[in-house]
Amino acid sequence: MKRRQTSFILMIILLFFIEVGQAVDLENGEEINEICAACHGEFGQGGKQGEYPRIAGQPTTFIAKQLRLFRARKRQNMPMLPHTEARELPDEDILDISIYLSQITLPTRLPPISENQFDAFERLMQAKKVLNIARAAGNVETGKKLYNQECRFCHGHDGWGKKKKGIPMIAGQYTNYLWRQVHKFSNKERIHDEDEPDDELLKEFTHEELQNIWAYLSIVDD
Ligand code: HEC
Ligand code: HEC
Repeated sequence: MKRRQTSFILMIILLFFIEVGQAVDLENGEEINEICAACHGEFGQGGKQGEYPRIAGQPTTFIAKQLRLFRARKRQNMPMLPHTEARELPDEDILDISIYLSQITLPTRLPPISENQFDAFERLMQAKKVLNIARAAGNVETGKKLYNQECRFCHGHDGWGKKKKGIPMIAGQYTNYLWRQVHKFSNKERIHDEDEPDDELLKEFTHEELQNIWAYLSIVDD
């Protein structure tokens, strides 16, 4: 009985340290984010119609992987290159910023104004955080069917990604950005599926079919 109690107390202490450790990481992440915010926005919401992608809420391992690819120049990204050099972004920082961004949830609409208080600054901050993808042209129903047949297995229900597997959400992402990445996959500037690097899945679809998939993905956040 006594031994059980001791191990219980030890577990609580351990959990406490894990919590504290994470809090420290997140603070560092928040600091690093000030650099990223210049392009990706304060909350990782992206901007300029997808010139800068949304990065908030993506899986930690996906964000970390992309940062390492940029740093190793295996994925070309001129604007980000200076910020990913090892001396600017060592491995510990990659982990901290990736965890920090991953835990940001972007609402898809403005919350109702709270009854007791109206704070204009707070409201402005709330509005900045909202990301609702504009309706993309195309046939939503056809796109949904195709998505469920061809993409859902990896990109998850309604395109929201799979955090544990490190697969990015493609819903809640700017349509322009998705198009640009499809071209990068086709030109072999990026690898879509690492397990099958020669797979040319996206090349098998017509422009119209992909447009229909984007149309579907653009309405799941409405
Ligand atoms: C000078 C502008 C700029 C800054 C600063 C910047 N980025 Fe980027 N980032 C970009 C651009 C542009 C892209 C899109 C590249 C492309 O089209 O492939 C991008 C892409 C990304 C991606 C890939 C997203 C995806 O879904 O494929 C991640 C992750 C990312 N940035 C994280 C960061 C982090 C973390 C920081 C801060 C340490 C940062 N960026 C700072 C411009 C910037
Ligand atoms: C076998 C699994 C798999 C399937 C099926 C799949 N994807 Fe992906 N997709 C991935 C992975 C993994 C990534 C992240 C690649 C990386 O780490 O750079 C990705 C990335 C993407 C990206 C870039 C996202 C970003 O933020 O950079 C787009 C766009 C995309 N997929 C579209 C699609 C579409 C459209 C379909 C269906 C026609 C599809 N994918 C089917 C695994 C898959």
